[in-house]
Parts: sequence; C-alpha cells; structure tokens
Amino acid sequence: MSRLVIYGGQQLHGQARVSGSKNAALPQLAACLLSSSPCVLRGIPDIVDVHVMTALLRRLGAEVSELKGGGPGRCLRVDAASLTGWEVPEALMREMRSSIILMGALLGRMGKARLSHPGGCAIGDRPIGFHVDMLRALGARIDTRDGFLEASAARLQGADCVLEYPSVGTTENVMLAAVLSRGTTVIRNAAREPEVVDLQGFLNGMGARVRGAGTDTIRIEGVETLYGTEHTVIPDRIEAGTLMAACLIAGGRVVLQNVVAEHLDAVIAKFREAGAVIVPSGDTLTVSAPGEIMATDFRTLPYPGFPTDMQPQAMALMTVAKGPSVLTETVYPKRFKHADELRRLGANLRIEGSTAIIRGVSRLSGCTVSATDLRAGACLVLAGLVAEGLTAVEGVSHIDRGYDCLEGKLASLGARIQRQA
Ligand code: EPZ
Repeated sequence: MSRLVIYGGQQLHGQARVSGSKNAALPQLAACLLSSSPCVLRGIPDIVDVHVMTALLRRLGAEVSELKGGGPGRCLRVDAASLTGWEVPEALMREMRSSIILMGALLGRMGKARLSHPGGCAIGDRPIGFHVDMLRALGARIDTRDGFLEASAARLQGADCVLEYPSVGTTENVMLAAVLSRGTTVIRNAAREPEVVDLQGFLNGMGARVRGAGTDTIRIEGVETLYGTEHTVIPDRIEAGTLMAACLIAGGRVVLQNVVAEHLDAVIAKFREAGAVIVPSGDTLTVSAPGEIMATDFRTLPYPGFPTDMQPQAMALMTVAKGPSVLTETVYPKRFKHADELRRLGANLRIEGSTAIIRGVSRLSGCTVSATDLRAGACLVLAGLVAEGLTAVEGVSHIDRGYDCLEGKLASLGARIQRQA
C-alpha cells in the first residue's frame, strides 16, 4: 500500500493551480448519458473517481476518449449514441458511492436502471432514501431485489418535489431525471452548492431548461431531446480550501490559481478568524499564514455554510492553534475517523457525539498514520506538514480518489513530501 512521507517544518511559498472540481465533474459525466450526441468536458481532474466514472460509462456502452490540447486538466469526449446497458456493476458501485447519480441519468435516457445498493463508508451511513423517494415522485417504479435497486419508467412525469434535506446528490439526480421528462419539475429545499449550479449550466448547454440552481428552488421544464455540448467544469473549491489550510498550518505565503473565491466565502471567513490574510483577485487567491494560528469554532452546514468536506482539514489546523476550539459536524455526524490518527500525532482532542473539542498543542510529532477516507487523508497530510520529524500517511489510494497529485502541488510549494510505493 503506497504512502506519502512528509518531513514537517517547511513553510510553503510560491503558486499552485487548483484542478477542476471532482464533485462537478462526476454528475456532468453522468449527464452525458442523456444525449445521443457527443459532449466534451474540459478541466477534468486526473483522479480515481473520474477513472471509475468513465469505466462505468464505457460499461454502459458510451465511448469515452481523451482529447489532447484542451487546456489545463483532462479533456474528455463522451459519445453516448448507442448505450447497450443500464446496469451499474456492484464492484464499481461499491468503489464509488456517488455512482448513485447514474440512476437519474439512466432513467431519463433508457427508462430503466439497475444498481447495487451502495454500502456505507468511512464517513458514516450513506443512505439513498431521498434519491428513491424523489425518483418515485417522478413516476419511477423502484424495487429492491437481491441487494440491487431496479428502477423503471416508460417516461418520467414532472412533479413538485420537496427534499427533506438539501441533499447534493439527490438534487442532482432529480435534475438528471427531470430534464427529459414530461411536464415541469420543481425541486424545493434544493442543495445550493456551486456544483449544482455548474450542472445546470452543463444541462442547459445540452438544450435543457433548468432554472434556479444556487437557490433552494429549482424549476425544470422537460424537453424531448438533449444535444451535445462543450463545457469546462468549475475549479475544485475543496482542493483550494485544502491548499489554503496547508499554507496556514505550515506557514508561508501561497498564490492559488483557478479559484472562484465566492465558492469559498465560509472557508475564507473562518480562516481569517484563525489569523490568515487572504486576498482574492480575479481567479487567483493569495493566502498569507499568520505567525500564530488563532483557535476558532467551526460548524459544518450545507452550502453556503462551512463545508463538511473541509472539516477534517479544519480539525488539523485547530490541533496546533492557540487555545481551545469546538468543531461541530452537522452533515455527517460520524465523520471523525481522522481524530484517532491526529491523536497519534500528539493532538489533544476528544469527540462528544457530533462535536470535537480541541485544545491546541505547541507541537505535533511525526509517526505513521492511516487515511480512512479522502478528506481524512488530506487532514493527515496537513498535520504532517507541521509535525516534527517524519510522518507517513498510509492509504494514499483514498487521497488519489479526489486529489489530482496533492503531493506534487505541495512539493512545488516547498513541502518535503514524497510518495513511496
Ligand atoms: C456530496 O455527497 C459530495 N459528493 C460529498 O463530497 C459531500 O460531502 C456532500 O455532498 C455534502 O456536501 C459528491 O458530490 C460526489 P448529500 P452526497 O446527499 O450527495 C444524508 C467528498 O469528500 N442523506 O448532500 O452523497 C447523508 O447521509 C464527498 O468529495 C440521506 O440521509 O451528500 C448526509 O448526512 C464526501 N439520505 C446528508 O444527507 C439520502 O438519500 C448530506 O448528504 C441522501 C443523503
């Protein structure tokens, strides 16, 4: 199992380019199934989850090819003219839980879908009841048989859908199912994440009629056909936030390119409370670390609140802050597996339910730690940047799922970090 080895104590200086958003790319790759004409997606990150999604598209009969010279990031051409299947194999479904997003697209294009019931994962239960309820509201018949979800619908019928919780994936799944349905669909209490807004832009580029993404009410007028289009995905706000946290914890001054600062309002506000000087300018953002990190409290919330995907990174930061801090996780209440590993590095923290109480320490000491999920892995890399001596982060495969060469970006900023096979 490969690992990242980090020698702590190096400040970060220089500039790095943020990759395209994993959580925008995945639903847009699924959306390519909705058209029999080819689509081109640019600025796609080179990460495992994208490889899994392209394998799924090919398994369903789509042709996926890489175009060269399409600017930073990967440029993928998806031609779903002749789909041959509607089943998402169990192995791939288990490898990537967000494959559930294919259900809406397959129902919209093929009128049927068969997916294995995704299991849980390291950040807690990942139920899919919202997805099932909303797709049923659009007229899909969905049964569970032998651990598989079997969905079918002659043609989906628009409906007024009220989400119990502003679920990102459910909002996206309903959008993908509704764009080719009959009539009008309204999604109330919709997720407002930038990735939902970007999906709206991609779908409308295909000829869909989606309005309101970014607000809590999205209206979709079903159309008969969707066409090919070209689109560049938005920058990855969580990678940007992770690199900002790296600069804060290690010290120094970093210029990030390919950033949409508005997508990071809550992160910028919190990191400024911790003492950072953050200056957005166009599509760049300059972060200067404070001499000393000030303790501050965090509460994760759906967008535009502080993102749960930045919670582990914030926790790493607070372990070496001056004073006590409280970190409350409201999205995935069990998302604290990284806490035990931080304690191995010398952090002083305890977990009470969905809250972490952290007391900053003057130093962390490097040792071998293990990543349990994508953002937990990033958290441990950040801690390694400041821990004395050598920190080895095992389970790099988790990090590779969602970060496009994180160690390369950090090394280019001066971190002493390398991958060991
Ligand atoms: C998306 O997951 C992201 N993944 C997650 O990022 C992110 O943490 C999450 O949104 C919240 O922002 C992708 O976009 C691919 P949800 P998703 O549905 O759609 C509960 C990362 O690290 N829920 O908004 O699965 C759920 O258990 C990943 O990049 C139900 O109860 O998140 C959670 O508590 C991790 N029933 C809450 O809603 C359902 O049917 C939010 O989940 C669906 C969700």
